[in-house]
Amino acid sequence: MASSLFHQSDVADPYSIYKGMLDKNPVYWDEINQIWAIYSYEYCVQILKNPKFEIPLVNLDNEQKLNETALVILSNLTRLSNGIQHKITREIAMLLFSNMNSIAINQIILQLIENDLYENKIDWVNSVCKKLPVLSILKSFRFKEEDCDFITEKIEALSKIMLPKKTDEQVKLINDNVGKLYFIIEKQLSDLPFYKPLLIKVSEKNDVSAEEIIPIVISNFIGLCIQSYDAGRGILSNSLLQIIRNKTFSKKIEIEKSVVETLRFDPPIHNTRRIATEDILIGKNHIKKNDSVLIVLASANRDAERFDNEFDFNIERMNNNENLAFGIGGHICLAKYFSINLATEALWYLFDQYKTIRLLEDKIHYEPLINARLPKNIWISIL
Ligand code: HEM
Repeated sequence: MASSLFHQSDVADPYSIYKGMLDKNPVYWDEINQIWAIYSYEYCVQILKNPKFEIPLVNLDNEQKLNETALVILSNLTRLSNGIQHKITREIAMLLFSNMNSIAINQIILQLIENDLYENKIDWVNSVCKKLPVLSILKSFRFKEEDCDFITEKIEALSKIMLPKKTDEQVKLINDNVGKLYFIIEKQLSDLPFYKPLLIKVSEKNDVSAEEIIPIVISNFIGLCIQSYDAGRGILSNSLLQIIRNKTFSKKIEIEKSVVETLRFDPPIHNTRRIATEDILIGKNHIKKNDSVLIVLASANRDAERFDNEFDFNIERMNNNENLAFGIGGHICLAKYFSINLATEALWYLFDQYKTIRLLEDKIHYEPLINARLPKNIWISIL
């Protein structure tokens, strides 16, 4: 019996696995892991749009022994909340996002490249992808240089707060750094002019005190940094690989179309999870209350029922933007356009400034993650 859960680092071509499942078992009960795995576009959308499938709880009864600040953050993240709590936390995350100031990202990329370029070689993942999305957010909220340095250095460790299971070492790193992070972010946001009006607006609308809104704001700002670090890194990495392999870099519009097609063809986030809150029929399958569900977004993106010649990378396919890379329904990513725009600007800058970009290694190694396919390194030469 096939297991639906595997580390992306262990699998050279996950898409052939998804195709096998899509053809035979688009809704599959994985006995080993006690989870339903959903491979077809139609059923992934059906589940993501159905609020009766909820986001699973992380860290029930604080089994992971997170400290008080880490618990505050975890319990307020919109990405992990449901129902009315999700409505308020998502509204706050979106308000934060809408208060970003526009910044010149070319300046940031140039600096990141210059910092690490050695003999015309650079590791695109570690030097640019892991830093640019977080820095773009921080700088657009006017964080000081030293605060940007602290947050970009610690964000990898803090991003583990989202994991359903954590090692003791991961918990220690979260607990050791979360206090300072929370303090820096609260201080900086409270100095900005939008902050107090935002607290008042949300507290009046939802009949909650402004004091109660503060931890939700700070936690979700940290959430934005974490998600931009993980998934933002992936969109920049995977798009570069496809653009080099398919030579689609001669115009900015080509880069943008390539980013969108990469999101369908090789998305950074391969799956997300839900729990059924009641018995629900999906196709002919009875999903029972409390059953776990794995929604394989990357498989839905290669469903022939939705995308013609699904295994071809084709930037001109009319419906590439119907991909599920950012999810769909109530929890759809709120940074979809920001992320596509950031990746387009960054990659266009790279190909416009440097005329010859070459991959130095054909074999790409991936992080040992179940939900995301993120290259560990991409060594390129730029001339
Ligand atoms: C600056 C970068 C990003 C930020 C700040 C960000 C933030 C967020 C937030 C706050 C949510 C939760 C929304 C909610 O639960 O209501 C979310 C959901 C999601 N994001 Fe992003 N995101 C970013 C980039 C990306 C990228 C590049 C991808 C993949 C291409 C991605 C994929 C997703 C997916 C799949 C979900 C939905 C998960 C689900 O429904 O279970 N995100 N994002």
